[in-house]
Amino acid sequence: MHSSASSVEASPALQAMLRRRSSSKVDDTAPTHEELLALVAGAGRVADHSSMRPWRLIELRGDDRERLGRALNKAAGEKGASTKPMRAPLLIAVVATIRKSEKVPAWEQEAVASGVAHMLSLALDEAGYGVMWRTGHATRTKAVAKAHGLEKHERLLGWLYVGGRPERTRPERPRTIEAERFVSRMPGGERSGSEDAPERPRAKKQKTSKKSKKQKASKSRKDG
Ligand SMILES: Cc1cc2nc3c(=O)[nH]c(=O)nc-3n(C[C@H](O)[C@H](O)[C@H](O)COP(=O)(O)O)c2cc1C
Repeated sequence: MHSSASSVEASPALQAMLRRRSSSKVDDTAPTHEELLALVAGAGRVADHSSMRPWRLIELRGDDRERLGRALNKAAGEKGASTKPMRAPLLIAVVATIRKSEKVPAWEQEAVASGVAHMLSLALDEAGYGVMWRTGHATRTKAVAKAHGLEKHERLLGWLYVGGRPERTRPERPRTIEAERFVSRMPGGERSGSEDAPERPRAKKQKTSKKSKKQKASKSRKDG
């Protein structure tokens, strides 16, 4: 049965997606292991070609985060431990476990693992926790793989930083997606029904000065 536009807009899943936002700052209230399991049971229901379940998650709590901090510094050729992992009480490492398959290439398996991470982020957000997916230059380095005990066929997709969501002190800037810019029809494709096929949306050209390019490069080095 088809839904009307208004019932689509009222859908709880859509409302949750529109509400979701990343929290760069979180407090020390982490979900318990049991709470996490309940949410993972939902997130793991992503579409999954051949039901390969090509993913696993690693919970990093307490001192685990310091071990990650040491691995991050080692990967960067530095001594000591980066304090970045201490920004949240719980980090969830998202791992794609790639297996050989005639039917399901590696990229499809990574897409499944990525889907789990997005669904879990949404589920945690809806459960009232703050979440931010973070990566960085060291994500796929040997030192970091070793710290997580990854095997050869496993690829890290980064970490969900999870904690309590503090009250926001500043009003949030609205974040909206202009859906029409992202949906088009095939070149030369048949038009069907009464709808006109929209032209392929063109990406807005952005003037990038040398200075802003430099600033961007420096920001991306700091990310993580
Ligand atoms: C795979 C992946 C890696 C990311 N890595 C970082 C990161 O290292 N640092 C960062 O500030 N944001 C990172 N982000 C973006 C944030 O998680 C977040 O989506 C962004 O700040 C926008 O906020 P919003 O999700 O509320 O729209 C990453 C997102 C994804 C999907």
